[in-house]
Amino acid sequence: MQILCFPEADTPATLRAQVLDLQHQAWPPAEPSPGPGAALTHDPALHPRSMLLVDEGTVVAALDVLSKPLVHAGRRYRAGGLSTVVTQPAVRGRGYGRRLVAAARTAMAAAGLDLGVFTCDRPLEPFYRSAGWRLLPGTHLIGGTPRCPLPSDRPPFDKVTMADFFSAEARRHHAAFRHARLALYPGTIDKLW
Ligand SMILES: CC(C)(COP(=O)(O)OP(=O)(O)OC[C@H]1O[C@@H](n2cnc3c(N)ncnc32)[C@H](O)[C@@H]1OP(=O)(O)O)[C@@H](O)C(=O)NCCC(=O)NCCS
Repeated sequence: MQILCFPEADTPATLRAQVLDLQHQAWPPAEPSPGPGAALTHDPALHPRSMLLVDEGTVVAALDVLSKPLVHAGRRYRAGGLSTVVTQPAVRGRGYGRRLVAAARTAMAAAGLDLGVFTCDRPLEPFYRSAGWRLLPGTHLIGGTPRCPLPSDRPPFDKVTMADFFSAEARRHHAAFRHARLALYPGTIDKLW
């Protein structure tokens, strides 16, 4: 088993097709896909990088790391987040998801991001915690855009915010991220991560 990383757009076609299958099973698209090869899941402006756990050519788990600047409490940070985390249904519960989200945390720190921060459905908090991510109590992300915001505490969402602080600057100011609203504004394609 190995972990492979690619910019989403440069993922080899055979692996990319498997990733799309997994994503479509987990989040069935509202409209039929326009055809093979057409589909990038994420906004290229968010520098999507795919991380795949691969067993002899088969993708057993996948996720994407998105990143953008985040201004919070008067400081500008390089922030990343996890998106479209998925394990093949037949092999869930074997630790593959945990292995991949833990590896993503390490890769995000090594990539020079100040912090990783993302939302997840409340029942998944222990899953991310078991991979080294920490709960930011009382914190919510504001997705969407300034003109059309999508706060993560808007009903019917029941989401929590997970994070880790990588750079010295982010570690120094980590307390400012608790009980906070983070104006992430990832845009209109990846409305919330
Ligand atoms: C969430 C998901 C990626 C977890 O992958 P996985 O490979 O099954 O996870 P792991 O085997 O590494 O599980 C690690 C721990 O998290 C727990 N866990 C996993 N999925 C869980 C879920 N959906 N709800 C609650 N706990 C969960 C496991 O029970 C395990 O705990 P344990 O070590 O105490 O037994 C997988 O269930 C999935 O693909 N779900 C559908 C897509 C999705 O919801 N993705 C997350 C949205 S961002």
